[in-house]
Parts: sequence; C-alpha cells; structure tokens
Amino acid sequence: MVAELISQEKKIKNPDTVFTAGLLHDMGKVILDQYNFEKFNLIMDRVLNMAMPFLDAENKILGYNHAQVGGIIARKWDLPEVLIEAISFHHRPQEAKENPDVVSVVHIADNICSMIGYDCEADSLAGNVDQFAVSSINLHSDDVDMIVEKLPEIMKKCKDA
Ligand SMILES: [Fe+2]
Ligand SMILES: [Fe+2]
Repeated sequence: MVAELISQEKKIKNPDTVFTAGLLHDMGKVILDQYNFEKFNLIMDRVLNMAMPFLDAENKILGYNHAQVGGIIARKWDLPEVLIEAISFHHRPQEAKENPDVVSVVHIADNICSMIGYDCEADSLAGNVDQFAVSSINLHSDDVDMIVEKLPEIMKKCKDA
C-alpha cells in the first residue's frame, strides 16, 4: 500500500501494478520458509540472535537470497517482467533494466515499512535507502512528508483488513 501511494504521488506506472509488485516483492522468503525450512530457521537465528542483516545471513548460509529465489520462481510462473524485476532487484534497484522506477518505488516503500516496524521483526533495512532509487523516482523531502502523513491511514486500513 505504501508502494501504491508513492506511485500515485509520483505518477509512476499503473499504481495497481506497483501495489502487486509491493505485495509480491518478498515472495522468495515464503518459498524458502516452505521448502528450506531448516536453513530458514538458521537464518532467522542469526538475524534474531546475532543481529545479522537478513540478506547477509541468507547469503552466508545458503549462498543465495530470497530476491534471487523469488525472481527465478516469478520467471517460471511467467509473471510480467515488471514484477520479475521488482522481486529480483528490490534490494539492488540499480540493477533493474526495464523498470527501474517501479523497482525503486518498491525498494523505498520496503525501507519505509521497515523503519516504522512493518517488517519481519529483524529484517531491518532502516538507513539502507539506495540513492539510485531516490533519484530514479525524483523523491523529495515533501514527498516523504506526504507519505509519513498518510501512513496512519494506511496502517489503519491494514489492521481493518
Ligand atoms: Fe526483501
Ligand atoms: Fe521486504
């Protein structure tokens, strides 16, 4: 919903597409949790008990990460390229080739949600906003003010859903 809001405000692509990209961006985590549960537990242990960033723990324990897994599955499912890119590159937006704007919106929305505590508890991205993403959608401080202002409404909608 935060991604959708940013896309409406910055007039980036179809907000419905961006909403879907935001919804699916971490689908690789669900797949890892389902199909590699033991390793997923080891990853969460490092994240929770050793304060290791989720992505680092994945790369260390698995040698790959949820963005790569999600991207591979999304391609196998024949999802639209924009969704494949959002899933694959939401932690490295500068690598998106066709839709850097949508990928950047998802990256920034993910960071905002993390900063306000809407993440998987330990997957804190706070402070890791990619400068490429900020400039690629021309995000200004007034935009951030607007997002912050609308967050309580979004959070209420999430709780009511
Ligand atoms: Fe992620
Ligand atoms: Fe995320």
